Amino acid sequence: MLLEGKTILVMGIRNKWSIAWGVAMSAHENGAKVIFTHHPTEKEDKIQELIGEIPDAKTYPCDVATDEDIEKCLKTIKEEQGQIDGILHSIAHANTEDLRNDFIATSREGFLHASDISAYSLVAVSRIAKEIGLLKPEASIVALTYFGSEKVVEGYNVMGVAKAALETSIQYLAKDLGKEKMRINAISAGPIKTLSAKGIKDFGNILTVVEEKAPLHQNVTTKQVGDVASFLFSNMSSAVTGEVIHVDNGFSIIGV
Ligand SMILES: NC(=O)c1ccc[n+]([C@@H]2O[C@H](COP(=O)([O-])OP(=O)(O)OC[C@H]3O[C@@H](n4cnc5c(N)ncnc54)[C@H](O)[C@@H]3O)[C@@H](O)[C@H]2O)c1
Repeated sequence: MLLEGKTILVMGIRNKWSIAWGVAMSAHENGAKVIFTHHPTEKEDKIQELIGEIPDAKTYPCDVATDEDIEKCLKTIKEEQGQIDGILHSIAHANTEDLRNDFIATSREGFLHASDISAYSLVAVSRIAKEIGLLKPEASIVALTYFGSEKVVEGYNVMGVAKAALETSIQYLAKDLGKEKMRINAISAGPIKTLSAKGIKDFGNILTVVEEKAPLHQNVTTKQVGDVASFLFSNMSSAVTGEVIHVDNGFSIIGV
């Protein structure tokens, strides 16, 4: 199997609709051992119930807003689970008002918050995981991004700016991690109805437009995103790093 013998850390599980869950299921079906982190305010009992579908899966609380919390969490994982082969970063947050108002109204605090949680946290997680020796040689990191970083998507606003920072961070991180033969890539997923997506104004309309215009005339599933993540975690993608791979039924190639 593609991920036999590998351990994958999935950061950002919330519920069964989370992209993190689709990735976890794919990694599990491809033979990986899967462990999770969740934000401390999420309902841990519900998450425990969900991840119970994967044998031996365990979840650890982790707030990526501080380096201290990331370090504490990743050190505990290393002590209990040993070194790992891959990390999924499936985490983003923006203030609700910044997804409701015009982008021009974004406050300094809102801009910094979205960038901190949705982009900088990937830099911190990559650095700390490497520094504490959590990552095995040739480990692979995968993050989630969205087309709103490339073109204006009404309502995506400050999150589009944060995703642009995330994508460029991936290129610089790829250069640094490459010194140790580690890789990092992003998946630009098409829109999926998740709890986070509900925060985006007229999200239903975005789903309809994708069905109309994408070459494959459908929306993506978390499992389809997960299968591409499994490829990126596997040795099949050993020459791929610093990339943003669109998993969007081709929507992003369409101009007029
Ligand atoms: N749903 C979509 O349409 C879509 C499309 C492309 C990319 N994405 C990206 O996929 C990723 C996962 O989002 P999702 O749509 O599955 O929604 P989700 O709500 O299921 O997941 C978002 C996760 O981020 C976590 N989070 C927020 N702040 C955090 C913090 N400070 N510390 C730790 N965790 C924190 C939440 O607890 C949650 O688990 C995000 O990066 C999102 O931007 C989503």
